[in-house]
Amino acid sequence: MATGEYVPHAPGYVDTDDPKIVTSRFGYEDSYTLDRYLATGGYEGLKAALGRTSEACHNITREATVLGRGGAGFPAGIKWGFCPPDVWPRYLVVNGDESEPGTYKDRLLMERDPHQLIEGCLIACYSIGLTQCFLYVRGEMAVAQQRLADALNEAYEAGYVGKNILGTDFSVDIVLHWGAGAYIVGEETALIESLEGNRGMPRLKPPFFPAAVGLYGQPTIVNNVETLANLPWLMSNGAEAYKQYGSETSPGTRMFAVSGHVKRPGVYEVEQGVTTYEDLLYGDKYCQGIRDGHELKMFIPGGGSAPWLFPEHVSLPLEARPVGAAGTMLGSGAIVVMDDSTDAVKACLRVVRFFARESCGKCAPCREGTSWEEKILQRILDGNGRPEDLDLLLDIGDNISPGPYPVASDESQGLEAVPFPPRQTTICPLGPSSVAPIVSALRRFRHEFEAKIATPVELGLRGPNAPSEAEETGLRGPNAPSEAEETGLRGPNAPSEAEEVAS
Ligand SMILES: Cc1cc2nc3c(=O)[nH]c(=O)nc-3n(C[C@H](O)[C@H](O)[C@H](O)COP(=O)(O)O)c2cc1C
Ligand code: SF4
Repeated sequence: MATGEYVPHAPGYVDTDDPKIVTSRFGYEDSYTLDRYLATGGYEGLKAALGRTSEACHNITREATVLGRGGAGFPAGIKWGFCPPDVWPRYLVVNGDESEPGTYKDRLLMERDPHQLIEGCLIACYSIGLTQCFLYVRGEMAVAQQRLADALNEAYEAGYVGKNILGTDFSVDIVLHWGAGAYIVGEETALIESLEGNRGMPRLKPPFFPAAVGLYGQPTIVNNVETLANLPWLMSNGAEAYKQYGSETSPGTRMFAVSGHVKRPGVYEVEQGVTTYEDLLYGDKYCQGIRDGHELKMFIPGGGSAPWLFPEHVSLPLEARPVGAAGTMLGSGAIVVMDDSTDAVKACLRVVRFFARESCGKCAPCREGTSWEEKILQRILDGNGRPEDLDLLLDIGDNISPGPYPVASDESQGLEAVPFPPRQTTICPLGPSSVAPIVSALRRFRHEFEAKIATPVELGLRGPNAPSEAEETGLRGPNAPSEAEETGLRGPNAPSEAEEVAS
């Protein structure tokens, strides 16, 4: 690993004058080095933690109500308390697999401030009383891997990780594990399977949750990167200071990754609960509104799994409860904005296709259902749709996620919201996630689907012999170079990503 070698910062972070708990170092070119970390208060949170008992640190996290940032929003302090007493060893597993469409906040945390994450892991280990941590990072994130590996080496050498940390009797080992690039491995039990060397497929839960029976059958806490990155600041400043930011039920700040048709997309750290989608999407210091000449058509408020929201919902605060009541979720904090130039059917297909391809295949409703959904949407787009396809799509969705599926209100049609979460016939929530874009788009933009179905096939354009969407672009036809070859990086003779990073 080439320590000190220049690796360009990934673009994407937008600095504002909002309070910062986790992004305060992002602006520095050398934000990822130990020198910079120590010069900006690094490892002070760990020292403050080690000056207290483990129970006291656990209580601070409980009192601060640090909500999990991985999707479900479960309070970290309460989750840590689910480890059965007197069962050892127990493990901390860091979920850095981030791969849902629209997400890129954890990647920036790992690339720009790896020591903050390492310090967060150490504080969590001390609070829970464990000595072994696994850091699971998505395979494609080469820069994050390199920076974390370098930071871990620095931290071991400086005595922040390893045996008798800072001269105390507290010892922790941290193992960095590269994923192989599967979205499903972000689901915590699939991630544990993958760490154990098995195919990354989710386990049934209940009866056993990882906190009770996890990695190698032992109690295991799985936490998201951003959740843990909050801990150094929290230990230095205390629960009361933390709760001064955000709302009563969602204290602190949260990172939101905004992409799509806004003037200034990027990752923003904002106060939870008090900032609204309107502030974030239209505010001068944030995304500065929809691109010129266009208006907002819809937005995905919390990653590809989330049901869609529409212009009348922008006043909602960035807080789990109201967003859940409105029929969707804050989820992974990824907001995808689509303006009036967006084809709702195409957008729906794009998201469904992702879930169809990432389905692990363990359970039939998801394995079969997601690919049926994809094929039906594709034929509607190709001009081969049938009038009964719309009910068929909803019926397939109902087999994956029975009952009324969560969806936003639509005043123009006098329709109420169905609150989150959905029900499921599947082992994990990936299958139901594929239903979100279908129900959202069909309820609001049914006319767009119907218009495509009513349009006769234009001969030579969308019939069985027509070029595919890919071929039309001239980029992905049968004779086109692969995406990899085009970039010159991943052709048959190209070095592997691993080799490249190591060189
Ligand atoms: C299909 C699927 C993918 C997920 N991907 C991620 C992910 O990439 N990162 C993450 O932190 N949590 C992900 N989660 C949520 C994890 O299962 C788990 O709830 C989370 O890591 C717990 O961390 P937290 O309590 O700190 O939020 C995913 C869940 C599902 C169902
Ligand atoms: S819902 Fe899909 S991804 Fe989840 S276990 Fe079943 S087949 Fe696998």
